[in-house]
Amino acid sequence: MTKPRIGVLTSGGDCPGLNAVLRGVVLAAEKLGWEVLGFLDGFEGLLPPGNYKLLGRRETAGIMPRGGTIIGTTNRGHFVAKVGAGDRAEVAEKVIADARRVLQELRVDGLIIIGGDGSMATALQLQAAGINCIGVPKTIDNDLEATAMTFGFDSAVATVMDALDRLHTTATSHKRVMVLEVMGRHAGWIALHGGLAGGAHIILIPEIPFDYDKIAAALNARAERGSLSAIVVVAEGARAKDGQVVMRPMEEGEYRLGGIGEIVAREIAARTGKETRCTVLGHLQRGGAPTTLDRILGTRFGVQAVKLIAEKQFGSMVSYQNYQVQHVPIADAVNRLRLVSPQSQMVQTARAVEISFGD
Ligand code: F6P
Repeated sequence: MTKPRIGVLTSGGDCPGLNAVLRGVVLAAEKLGWEVLGFLDGFEGLLPPGNYKLLGRRETAGIMPRGGTIIGTTNRGHFVAKVGAGDRAEVAEKVIADARRVLQELRVDGLIIIGGDGSMATALQLQAAGINCIGVPKTIDNDLEATAMTFGFDSAVATVMDALDRLHTTATSHKRVMVLEVMGRHAGWIALHGGLAGGAHIILIPEIPFDYDKIAAALNARAERGSLSAIVVVAEGARAKDGQVVMRPMEEGEYRLGGIGEIVAREIAARTGKETRCTVLGHLQRGGAPTTLDRILGTRFGVQAVKLIAEKQFGSMVSYQNYQVQHVPIADAVNRLRLVSPQSQMVQTARAVEISFGD
């Protein structure tokens, strides 16, 4: 007897915890007597003749601690449905029709799409074209409105914290200001959480435009209290009150952010006379083993995605709300970024422990 089949793919930037989701999907599906096809390199694996591998117990054994994704990913290619903050692009009809035919020929009844905002925009189009989709929210940026948390975020924050622990010792030895630029696109979650956990003195996030003179004043006040070193965390999407977000030239796909760290370091040195250095943490935040939380969240998301297919709740995205894994319409997740509220308790807590936001 032929077994029911489902498909799974990982799309967009990778992050720690993707393999935990894949393992959760495979084990939960096997329990129901289903087969799982893992499509390779994101949505591209759906193109004719179909590029996939059968994922079973053996293929997913021992993958939980591994970073990245065993089935590959891309944020480029034929299925890019989003090019920037809020900018939508349509996936070509022929591309969608080709993918639908491949899935039909392979007898895939439901497709689990593990991705961020852009991948959910693509999922929405596939669903509208009659492909049964379930979304699983992933991104280190933690910026999806429809879920209280994405997996990958906690691991990225842990990497930022580790980097800050290391920067503290060299900063103190040299009495320097150390600036750390972190990822997060248009949201400051990684900078805020990582900066708080890593004992930063100044945190600059996109949601609170900063003033260089205020940063200099905070550093000078610190020096007057006898602390000659300082740690500054800058989100890649942060900008000065009268400045712009620093972008790299657009390549295929989305705009790339980055470069603000060096500018902040230069301005601090010019205004305070302090020796200042910048480190860009970059893709280290996306690599390596997932934290406990991301392994557990990833597993829960994978299991829930299979349950949603069993219940035929197509067009839904797994969502984490009030400590429970639930689901919402994929449409609720697209183009609705969750940003840090400047009035939030986290920001107030940071201010209470003398962290300046440069405002
Ligand atoms: O969305 C995740 C993310 O890591 C962002 O924080 C960052 O701006 C972007 O992806 C980097 O993308 P790429 O891997 O294409 O350089």
